[in-house]
Amino acid sequence: MTHVVVVRDEREGGEAAAAIIADRIEARPDTVLGIATGSTPLTTWAALAERGLDLSRTRAFALDEYLGLPPGHPQSFEAVVAREVTAPLGLDPALVQVPAANGDDPDLAASQYERSIVAAGGIDVQVLGIGRNGHLAFNEPGTPLDAPTHVAVLSAATRSDNARFFGAPDEVPTRAITQGLGTIARAGTLLLLAFGSRKATALAAALEGPIGAPLPASVIRRHPDAIVIADTDAAALIAKRVPA
Ligand code: F6R
Repeated sequence: MTHVVVVRDEREGGEAAAAIIADRIEARPDTVLGIATGSTPLTTWAALAERGLDLSRTRAFALDEYLGLPPGHPQSFEAVVAREVTAPLGLDPALVQVPAANGDDPDLAASQYERSIVAAGGIDVQVLGIGRNGHLAFNEPGTPLDAPTHVAVLSAATRSDNARFFGAPDEVPTRAITQGLGTIARAGTLLLLAFGSRKATALAAALEGPIGAPLPASVIRRHPDAIVIADTDAAALIAKRVPA
């Protein structure tokens, strides 16, 4: 079932998401957390850090990683996760995994990453953002809903959206290793966050349009425990939304 929670703004959304994550970690300190990067989860990490919870036993897997950046590049998700999640939340870096993007065989790295998630017992709570084109992680429109972790080619829309993190648009990598929609669908709880009017069209299509590969985020409606936290701007086009 998909439960939609509409909040006033990004800050309130971050607090709501942090409350859900904190409950899980309090109940089970070695919870496996799925980490999205990008702008959307930043208020969640801030609200979680503010709770002062002991996260030293929490395990974590990032959703994705760019291919083709030099090791240590500040916009690699390895660096972003270390800076924005692991350090401020006090996670143990040894328990945080990001797909390995600097080996010779990215396809092999993708399948090894999938196996690591399975070996950890799967992801308990997966934090997700949504792309303006409806992507989930780097599963771009057209990706099969049951795809495992794989090498993905980024769409022009995604590269242009992410250009803000790089010096110039053509510095945005063209490929990434991403958890697949099938991988994401096996997480225990999905926590999809969407803030701002630029997400409104994709969010309404994900929640009310056809479920299928053209709109990857629609896969969450097949999940038994999916929670969407959206601010009023992102939720504006959802016809059946719960009033704030
Ligand atoms: C990030 C990711 C992406 C983002 C999405 C939204 O790891 O996989 O799917 O969640 O592109 O990005 P923001 O939050 O920057 O709007």
